[in-house]
Amino acid sequence: MVDNLDRVWWKDGVVYQIYPASFKDSNGDGLGDIPGIISKLDYIRELGVDMVWVSPMFESPQVDMGYDVSNYEEVYPPYGTVKDMEDLIGACHKRGMKLILDLVINHTSDQHAWFKESRSSKNNPKRDWYIWKPPRYAEDGTRLPPTNWRSYFSGSAWEYDGHTDEYYLHLFAKEMPDLNWESEECRKAIYDSAMRFWLDKGVNGFRVDCVNMYSKSTDFLDAPIADKRFYEQPAWCHYANGPRMHEFLREMNEKVLNRHDAVTVGELPHTPDPKKVLDYVGRKDKQLSMVFQFDIVDIGQGGTHKYHFEEWKLPVLKKIVVKWQCFIEGTDGWTTAFCENHDQGRSISRFASDAPEYRILSGKMLSLMMCSLTGTLFIYQGQEIGMINVPKDWPIDYYKDIESVNFYKLMAAKTNNDPDEMAYVMRSLQTLSRDNARIPMQWDDSPYAGFTERKEGAWAHVHDLYPEINVAKQLDDPNSTLNFWRDMLRFRKQHSEVLVHGTFEAYDIENEKTFVFVKRFGGKRVVVALNFSSEEQEVVLPEHETGLKFMVGNYGNEGGGGGERRRLRPWEGRLYMAGGDA
Ligand code: GLC
Ligand code: CA
Repeated sequence: MVDNLDRVWWKDGVVYQIYPASFKDSNGDGLGDIPGIISKLDYIRELGVDMVWVSPMFESPQVDMGYDVSNYEEVYPPYGTVKDMEDLIGACHKRGMKLILDLVINHTSDQHAWFKESRSSKNNPKRDWYIWKPPRYAEDGTRLPPTNWRSYFSGSAWEYDGHTDEYYLHLFAKEMPDLNWESEECRKAIYDSAMRFWLDKGVNGFRVDCVNMYSKSTDFLDAPIADKRFYEQPAWCHYANGPRMHEFLREMNEKVLNRHDAVTVGELPHTPDPKKVLDYVGRKDKQLSMVFQFDIVDIGQGGTHKYHFEEWKLPVLKKIVVKWQCFIEGTDGWTTAFCENHDQGRSISRFASDAPEYRILSGKMLSLMMCSLTGTLFIYQGQEIGMINVPKDWPIDYYKDIESVNFYKLMAAKTNNDPDEMAYVMRSLQTLSRDNARIPMQWDDSPYAGFTERKEGAWAHVHDLYPEINVAKQLDDPNSTLNFWRDMLRFRKQHSEVLVHGTFEAYDIENEKTFVFVKRFGGKRVVVALNFSSEEQEVVLPEHETGLKFMVGNYGNEGGGGGERRRLRPWEGRLYMAGGDA
């Protein structure tokens, strides 16, 4: 890898993810929109971004915030029109940025014309575009779903349709039926409608939703029982990375992507084995440019239910970073660096400290870490200003996400509203829920954080701390988190060989307070030392780490801490360089 740098544009690029509902409202209806995005492109470009990823803006009944698409070739009217999207594509390109869209093709909305036809009768030509199965019956005659599979949004992954007396599969909400990739005609329609339509308009590729779930094992067996309290069980062993997955992706490249020099980043949950991940991201066997492996964002999630928060210690995070930094070394694969997106709590709150005295330091320390990692770097809106999780005292009705709300209802019913259990549920949601990422972007200190001019406010509650944490305030402050990110992104570009492409090695991996790693490229070395605690920590580097020059730090200086044994202040991050032009 080091000898033979393959510097395609998407490797060195920095990607900025936009969640359209919550980025910027341009017309005072309380909901973000495409003209709002266009109005902020200069801000994004000046941050140092090379590519924008917009989460689904397609026509949708919004059961799952647009991940339930009812027409791939139309835009959700409150967000704008196809013409607005064409303007957005042009406006990105004019600024030298690429644009990728979300490709949501594991399922559609139940309001998609394809599904309406499919459900209309057993012999409709599109019947097999979705996954239909007859009921099972218990000994006492009770009708049961075809398998015990659980959906991601609680309850069964099967919905009964009385009209034809069959169940359809939905891995997510019941309004989101899974497409049947076994049907060639269905695949062709997906390529045309969801992909070619937008590639022909100039989009540069896709973030591919649930990319490893299209090929299900076709015997439809029950999942093993992981949680005895429930009938429905997690079943990813039956639908993630299924038998025809790689065949489908090769076909998608051959038929569509290769003709457009399109980049893809696939969402890859349930895949802990690096060998399996490499099968997707090898350059020669064109399947995906890169993926989001999930280990980093799964930290703290419960084993059987995502929202059963479990305590964890720093070596867990370090080992995950090491694993997904190193797995491409000596291969033709590529990796990504990310720790936030629209499905996750905010990184400062999850991985560092959002206490008032430490949150700015924490945000900068994490920025320093992320900007030093090998792979394509992804930032999620608001991460650059250090947005943090929603306040601890927000009640459940401030949470809007179907996943949060359904889980809360499920547990309330199951535990008969047990106060201790429900306090635990709320604590888990406050740490991990998707709502944390989905509240409005904080632009300034005017009402509703300058996100909307609507008198009644935005579609979702604005964070209580927006007067303190917002873009306008940070633009003017040279020491802000925002300006730290800008500087770091510039620094990453200046030293891209070692920072974006270098090899990775961590020191003192079992240390629960500090994270020290070294990046190498040619004769150049970068040593990054991070303190993940609110106390001073001592870092001792191996003897051979000599000649280090302090380059950047989140305290602005090295303090009195140089020399062999380095004392790091609370949540301090420092970057040293040796060799080359250091
Ligand atoms: C992905 C999306 C998530 C969505 C789900 C169903 O995980 O990131 O937001 O709910 O797929 O499309
Ligand atoms: Ca709007």
